[in-house]
Amino acid sequence: MVKKVLIALVLFLVIAQFFRIDKTNPPVDPQADFFTNVQTPERFQKLIKNSCYDCHSNETNYPWYTDVAPVSWWVKGHIRNGRKALNFSEWENYKASKATHLLDESHEFTVETKMPLFTYTVMHPEGKLSKADRADLANWFKTEAAKGE
Ligand code: HEC
Repeated sequence: MVKKVLIALVLFLVIAQFFRIDKTNPPVDPQADFFTNVQTPERFQKLIKNSCYDCHSNETNYPWYTDVAPVSWWVKGHIRNGRKALNFSEWENYKASKATHLLDESHEFTVETKMPLFTYTVMHPEGKLSKADRADLANWFKTEAAKGE
């Protein structure tokens, strides 16, 4: 019984490797990017790039484990849903009210340590926000949101 389950599992993993994820990033238009449209201090540009851009932009870096199914499918889901919810590369296309809402949410999610996703920071220690960086970045999001309110 155990042997059969193991064989099925190995077979699944072998076959799964044929279903590779699409790693082509959508085209990037610098004109539409968040940093072109919202003046951002360099310190926060760096933090947002390091901690958010892999899921919330069209400039995703795909690490080696995105070659391994089923982890790759799971990561791809994060990128798909992340971009759908908030795409810093397409910031110019958001209406002012939507942009303000997203800045507000970014403040909230950062304060509440919901973002970046915990599983992401396990694999990307460089994307982890220190306590001070988290507080300052969240505050900055809040200040920017307030400008639109
Ligand atoms: C590992 C991928 C990943 C990283 C890194 C990440 N996010 Fe997210 N984020 C997501 C996903 C996935 C969702 C959508 C959640 C859902 O579908 O409910 C999301 C949702 C959001 C939303 C909600 C948007 C809305 O109103 O629907 C905000 C705001 C957000 N993220 C901000 C950030 C910020 C700011 C950072 C960096 C500090 C960040 N995220 C880093 C994956 C990520």
